[in-house]
Amino acid sequence: MPIIDYNGQLIQCDAGMRLRDALLMNGESPHNGSAQWLNCKGLGTCGTCAVDIISGDVAPKNARETWRLDFPPHRAEQNLRLACQVRVTSDLVVRKHPGFWGQHVPKTSAEG
Ligand code: FES
Repeated sequence: MPIIDYNGQLIQCDAGMRLRDALLMNGESPHNGSAQWLNCKGLGTCGTCAVDIISGDVAPKNARETWRLDFPPHRAEQNLRLACQVRVTSDLVVRKHPGFWGQHVPKTSAEG
């Protein structure tokens, strides 16, 4: 059974599960803030479940994921993945960025 390190929380799931489902079933969310309610429920269209897969083997992006992650605020070169489209087949290290869509957001000078 693969183990997901999600922002430091370790989650075990069945091989082949969608990453979004594995997180939600274990009390974690791939969505930030109100995106927890305002999302496409895994259809791959809203883009709010974008995560950064730091390590682990995952299949290449499918067409829907490729389309959504090349549509603002996402950009293909950010190399994010949609948790609702990724199937977990190996141990993964995954991080969520703080933007509404899970995108990188620059720190303000007030944050240090
Ligand atoms: S939940 Fe909407 S794109 Fe993944």
